[in-house]
Amino acid sequence: MRFQFPAMTAAEAAEMIQHDQTVGFSGFTPAGAPKAIPLAIAQRAKAEHEAGRDFRIGVLTGASTGPSLDGALAEARAISFRTPYQSNAELRARINERQTRFFDMHLSLMPQAVRYGFLGPLHWAVIEACDLTSGGGVVLTSSVGAAPTFCSKAEKILIELNRYHPPTLLGIHDIYEPADPPHRREIPIYHPSDRIGSPVVKVDPSKIVGVVETNLADETRGFDQPTPVTEKIGALVADFLAAEMAAGRIPPQFLPIQSGVGNIANAVLGALGRHPAIPPFQMYTEVLQDSVIQLMKQERVTFASSCSLTLSREAMGEVYSNLEWFRPRILLRPQEITNHPEVVRRLGIISINTAIEVDLFGNVNSTHIMGRQIMNGIGGSGDFTRNAYISIFTCPSTAKGNKISTIVPLVSHVDHSEHSVQVIATEWGIADLRGRSPYERAFLIINNCAHPEFRDTLREYLEMVETGHTPQTLCAAFQMHEQFHRTGDMRGVKWAEVAG
Ligand code: COA
Repeated sequence: MRFQFPAMTAAEAAEMIQHDQTVGFSGFTPAGAPKAIPLAIAQRAKAEHEAGRDFRIGVLTGASTGPSLDGALAEARAISFRTPYQSNAELRARINERQTRFFDMHLSLMPQAVRYGFLGPLHWAVIEACDLTSGGGVVLTSSVGAAPTFCSKAEKILIELNRYHPPTLLGIHDIYEPADPPHRREIPIYHPSDRIGSPVVKVDPSKIVGVVETNLADETRGFDQPTPVTEKIGALVADFLAAEMAAGRIPPQFLPIQSGVGNIANAVLGALGRHPAIPPFQMYTEVLQDSVIQLMKQERVTFASSCSLTLSREAMGEVYSNLEWFRPRILLRPQEITNHPEVVRRLGIISINTAIEVDLFGNVNSTHIMGRQIMNGIGGSGDFTRNAYISIFTCPSTAKGNKISTIVPLVSHVDHSEHSVQVIATEWGIADLRGRSPYERAFLIINNCAHPEFRDTLREYLEMVETGHTPQTLCAAFQMHEQFHRTGDMRGVKWAEVAG
């Protein structure tokens, strides 16, 4: 017997959500995010604003969402508070204008922060599902994110039953919520493919107050074509990992890979897949992009545990039309589990994420432009980096037509400290920071990773002081950034003028 719930339109669902309430939406980068109800909430907000009334809500999600959720609500000026991650240009603008309060947090911590009550009451969960099963289960769609926690903690639940996703997805999810302290036990995952939970989110049926039917594809962005820079970074990282294996520092069966989202990540995965010395490998990661699906078909990736299927429409179509083949090879888990420090450390994950800037000592900025404007957020990069077997950061050595060096004396914002970052890769080479003092690291990063046009300037920076464990000169540390503010170009800084 199937659940019988009140069917309603998105507009009727949106009418139930009140100003100042907090809503937890399913969705992760932006797979599995509801699309019709948030659009209707945005329309409602606009109507309320036109009538002279305030209407803004707190928005919690798994991670970033698409134009129908973050985009539409930000455009309607309807988001008062947002966490844990976003990547929408409109919302980014609201956050940087301080119209929306944004709390940038590690993705693994979000569900427990909701359960602990750290983020206040959760009034609504709005969850995209492909089916509602007999026995009280919600079958999620292309991601899990924080949906299980939103369902358990929200006062009421609205379901977007999206017919675009087949109900045969049942079985691809592994839903597990750890008990809270002092009752928490170990998370019993010893291999990326271990199943530890339920295929459905079990909910209290009395909390489901409405079901809105839709048929809408995920709003995943496409990828740019690989560039010589991304290809070079990919090849360097693959060669580095192959050399680590040859040196006996990575076991012969290899270790599971976590890879961030974006074009460099796609290029790195492609290079790993092509590398003759790297055996078929597994992924334990938070997003699966198109490149992984191709590598699975070539049997270069043998299993992938993820939080979402962040796929183009074509790749998603391929997975959905061959679900029987993909089902034993893919598992979707909550972000609390995919990113859990305990599991990441136990499995020996090799983490590969992208930096905005890196300093001479190995501190990484993943989130802020020039220390002030947020880009997206820390996402899962900290969950993986701090606990990885080997943590790698990649980035092009320059930005904005070579006017910005991504290698700087001191990062303008710290997300990952020198204590967690082990390897830096740009298109020029690899800096392996393991076991190196700050002074040694600085020369490795300058000589191997910085763009040649900035190398002398960066070396001169180091030469300004002859003592100190970390050769930092505080009055000059941000001079490259300051010069960019004044002139639009970081090149040609004269340290003597700065430091007097
Ligand atoms: N200073 C100023 N601007 C910079 C810069 C720097 N040091 N480095 C990059 N930029 C600009 C680029 O020019 C580009 O600008 P544009 O949008 O105007 O073209 C923009 O920042 C994005 O750079 P790009 O190289 O296209 O970045 P990306 O798409 O590879 O993303 C991050 C890089 C760091 C923003 C992205 O990986 C991220 O958000 N990471 C944090 C979350 C994370 O790591 N999650 C991991 C698990 S999925």
